[in-house]
Order: sequence, then C-alpha cells, then structure tokens
Amino acid sequence: MQKSGEDEWDQLIAGANVATMSLERAPFGQVPYGRVEDAAIAVKGERIAWLGTAAEGRSRAAAQRLTVQDATGLWITPGLIDCHTHLVYGGNRVAEFEQRLCGASYEEISRAGGGIQSTVRATRAATPAELRASALARVRRLMAEGVTTVEIKSGYGLELPTERRLLEVARELGETLPLSVRKTFLGLHSLPPEFGADRQAYVDRVCGPWLEALAADGLVDAVDAFCENIAFTLAETNQLLMAARSLGLAAHIHAGQLSDMGAAELAAQWGALSADHLEYVGEAAAAAMAAAGTVAVLLPAAYFTLRQTTPPPVAMLRQNGVSLAVATDCNPGTSPCTSILTAMNMACTLFGLTPEEALSGTTRNAARALGLQDELGTIEVGKRADLAFWRVERPAELSYGLGANPCVGVMHRGRMREALIHDGYPTLDAGMLEA
Ligand code: NIG
Ligand code: FE
Repeated sequence: MQKSGEDEWDQLIAGANVATMSLERAPFGQVPYGRVEDAAIAVKGERIAWLGTAAEGRSRAAAQRLTVQDATGLWITPGLIDCHTHLVYGGNRVAEFEQRLCGASYEEISRAGGGIQSTVRATRAATPAELRASALARVRRLMAEGVTTVEIKSGYGLELPTERRLLEVARELGETLPLSVRKTFLGLHSLPPEFGADRQAYVDRVCGPWLEALAADGLVDAVDAFCENIAFTLAETNQLLMAARSLGLAAHIHAGQLSDMGAAELAAQWGALSADHLEYVGEAAAAAMAAAGTVAVLLPAAYFTLRQTTPPPVAMLRQNGVSLAVATDCNPGTSPCTSILTAMNMACTLFGLTPEEALSGTTRNAARALGLQDELGTIEVGKRADLAFWRVERPAELSYGLGANPCVGVMHRGRMREALIHDGYPTLDAGMLEA
C-alpha cells in the first residue's frame, strides 16, 4: 500500500457522471453543473479525498487493492440541502386549507386566531414523542430524495419550554439519523396570545433570556424573525439581530413574503446569512444583499400553496448578483411540502429558475445560506462526502419530474445510507428514532 496521503482511500466510486456544482473548473473554464463525466470520487473518512476520471481512479484504487464501487449509468450530486423548514410541529392545518379554498385569505385566518396560532396550540399540547414521530415521518421523506442536511426552525412554541422542546427534537433528529441538522430559533414568529397586551415584553424575552438560555444549551445555530405586518416590525426584528450579534449567532429573516417592509435591507445590513421568501423586494435591497453575501432563499411551495400571484423578481435578483437558494419551507400552514424535488420543480416552473439554478439552489447556495459553504454544497476535495446518487439521464431531470423520485442512494459523512444497486424508493429503518 502506498503511503502518500492522497492515495490512502477508504472507498472509490467510479463510472458515474458527477455534477460537482463547483464554480472552480479551471483550466477548462466553467462547465454547466460543474460536470465531470465518467468520473471517480475517492472518499477518506468522512471527506472527499480525490476526484478525477474513472480510468485514473480505478488504476489508483488497484494500486491500493481497494474494491471499487461501480456507479456506471448514475449521476452523482452533492447531498441536497433543505435550508428552510419548520418541520417540527403538532397537528396540521388541513381545515384552513379548506377555508382558504372557500374564500378566506391567509391574513384573515391569521388575524382571527388561526394560522400560526392554531399550530402553536397543537404544538404546546403535543408530547415530545408525538412531535418526534411526526417530524421523523416528514424528515424521512426529505431524506429519501437525497437530502443530507436540513435546517429546522422552532417558532410553534412561543414559550420557552416548548421552543426548547422543538429545538431538542431537531437536535435529536440530527443525532439519530444519517442527516445533518441546523437549528434556528424563530421566537419572533407570531405574538402569543398571553402577550397580546404587551408585545414589547414578549420581544424582550425572546431577544434576552430565552435566546441566551437556548444558545447556552447549544440549541441555536441561528435566529430568525417573521418580519411582516401580521407578525413583527422592522424595529423588533432589528432588536433580535442585535441580540444575535452579541451572542455570535447567525441570522435568517423571513422577508418580503406578503409585503415589502424593508426586511431584506435589514438582513443585508446585519450580514444575515439569508433573507427568505422575497416575493416583495426592491432593487436597493437586492444590491445590499449581494454586497453583504446574504442569500435569497426562494420558497416556491409556499407561494404555490398560498396561490400568490406576484413571484419574486428573479431576473432583478440575478442581475444584482444575489445568490439564489431553494427550499421547501416545510410547515403546516403555507407549505405542507416534504419534497425538495417538488420545490426545485416549482422554482423552475413558477419562478423561472433554470434547472441548474434550482440544483445550485439546493446545493452550493443552500450551503451558503447556512454558512456551511466551506464544508458542504459542492463535490470538491476536502469537503464532506455527502453525496446523492440518481438514476437520471441528465441533472435537469431532478427538476423535471413531478412526483418522481430518481434517488437511488445517499452517502452521508462518507457512509452509504442506501445500497447503490437498487432502484425504487429508499427505505430507512423505522425504529431509527425510537427512544
Ligand atoms: O415560512 N412566514 C412565516 N412562517 C411560515 C408560515 C408558518 C405558518 O403559517 O404556520 C412560512 O411561510
Ligand atoms: Fe418559513
């Protein structure tokens, strides 16, 4: 066995076409999807150790007497990243779905005590086991479609113990499943009824003792606020961003979903990782976001579910050089969606993204939206070996199908989660998250 670090591989996967999604393809210049055809990927521990042609990979593997995993006929992409979800909650909102289709608007339902508040009631009433079981079912559907990293927001507790429970369930999913989880404290999601008479007291609690306690327990990677006329003001959101900064926490902002309150500018001003939704956003905000590196997270399944008619100004965002990510926004009210591939399809069909933009939106740019771009999001030497294997003819097919799942295998941290060899719907061990 050769001793050189480069050649001490644990695994070699050869013969597949690889969509690296990397922007670095010198000396050939940039190619679509950063693709390398008939490629090989070597893995050492949980990292990508080498990337090159299948022929060279096979001969190097032979020199190390390493068995090669043949992936001929498949495409490999980075493991997909769902960078915006609220997937831990109690109950569901099917009744409101029906009400909306009988004429009520999301805002009307919300102002009448439904909407987020109805999920808050159901979530407070749910046991930890119930929260865990329903979240597990949702996250498994995402994982079956090649998702290896998911961001999960709290925000349906709106009281410290329940917010903590949601973040604990999120953490537990990451500890128990072959999945990386980022946890976001969304205390400013909606004003809970018990603070109806004193919103400042609530905001002070969220931004002060609650955030400090949750962060001290390692339950917060980032904060988020729903900055909207039915939720929290710009000043209240600013207070949260200031508190997050003082604790060294990253931030996301729900911005411009229903109206332009200036939240995207605020996100850029504070160097937030992302501003999310952005159906309503102006050019100055886009320029500020590009300058700050704040990613625009597009959530087409929420737009679709609310039957909105003003899509985000994608051409303007592009022209200003804003990075575009795409996520499910999985939540019971506006986006009962557990399919990242459907979100990618909708990003194309409803928002006009190209299939390549949709895929970079759930890989390279989604990693940036979580601050994980040095570790994840592209297939490059040194990055984490999180990979998704697809039986497709070309990568655009990931955005093309509606209801299809061409994922035939997933690697998380260098370990295969599913056998490479079978077609069909991958299964996970049902007992995986039992106590
Ligand atoms: O991302 N916009 C605020 N939060 C969620 C909706 C939450 C809900 O309606 O339960 C969203 O769309
Ligand atoms: Fe959301």
